[in-house]
Amino acid sequence: MALVLCHSLKGGVGATFLAAHLAMGLSQLEGSDGVASPRGSGDVALMTTSTSDLTPLHLGLPPAQRLPSMGSLAEASVLVNGINLYCEPNALADADFLPRLEDAGYLSAASNRTLVIDVPAGERMLARRLMAHATVHVCPLMASPDCLALLPQLLDEAGDWGAARTAYVIGKLDETRKLARHVAAFAREVLGDRLIGKIRNDQAVPEALAMLQLLSRYAPASAALADARLIADTVGMILAEERQAALASEEQAAAPISSGPAARPGASRAA
Ligand SMILES: Nc1ncnc2c1ncn2[C@@H]1O[C@H](COP(=O)(O)OP(=O)(O)OP(=O)(O)O)[C@@H](O)[C@H]1O
Ligand SMILES: [Mg+2]
Repeated sequence: MALVLCHSLKGGVGATFLAAHLAMGLSQLEGSDGVASPRGSGDVALMTTSTSDLTPLHLGLPPAQRLPSMGSLAEASVLVNGINLYCEPNALADADFLPRLEDAGYLSAASNRTLVIDVPAGERMLARRLMAHATVHVCPLMASPDCLALLPQLLDEAGDWGAARTAYVIGKLDETRKLARHVAAFAREVLGDRLIGKIRNDQAVPEALAMLQLLSRYAPASAALADARLIADTVGMILAEERQAALASEEQAAAPISSGPAARPGASRAA
């Protein structure tokens, strides 16, 4: 299953920025064996469950751009650099939401389709529901005392599933600040491998939004952009590993049928 959930307990930490750049980064990855990674245009989609976040702006679209729901007609689709964009503000109340994700192949273990879904901090219930179906939950935190104070709650709530599948990112990190550096170092110590990267605080991010341009066009040398690309590479590797494991277990599950006497004429003759 290639559902990447981007959600933090705390608002304003850069979750929407991260979700948009994960989708862009993942859409550019190419699997060397042709199946392992999300690849090529159309394989990656980005969904927000908020009508008031900055998703369109991060993709270089005007702020007035409305994003369609997944069930909308093809004419209403919004495609940027091969990434389909969706907005599902009623996801929590909509009983058909998960079945629709499944029909679209986003919950299928062996599918190479990837959906990055950005759930705002306030929509905790929806995030918890989606966690059960996500391949990876990317959780941005800020190197600030308030995020640090939330860490025990986060780790507690994540439980065993989260211990295996939640990847943390330090967002909007200002390395010129001693406190931020120390908090980041502490988070690294507590989270270990589960901390997969940082995104530096970079003025080019709001500037690109204000200029209605993609960050990669406005500031190709942006520190935040380089950090986000590294994180997308890491998430791509996680997805590739999960996909290979899912394909292997599907093959294993199918093996008794194909190796049964009826499926192996030679074997049945021998019998
Ligand atoms: N790396 C960065 N450097 C500087 N500013 C950033 C960076 N990432 C995001 N921002 C800015 O911080 C603000 C909040 O970012 P964003 O909308 O991604 O946060 P969020 O976690 O999704 O918030 P919410 O929970 O409210 O949806 C935005 O104005 C965005 O431009
Ligand atoms: Mg957001």
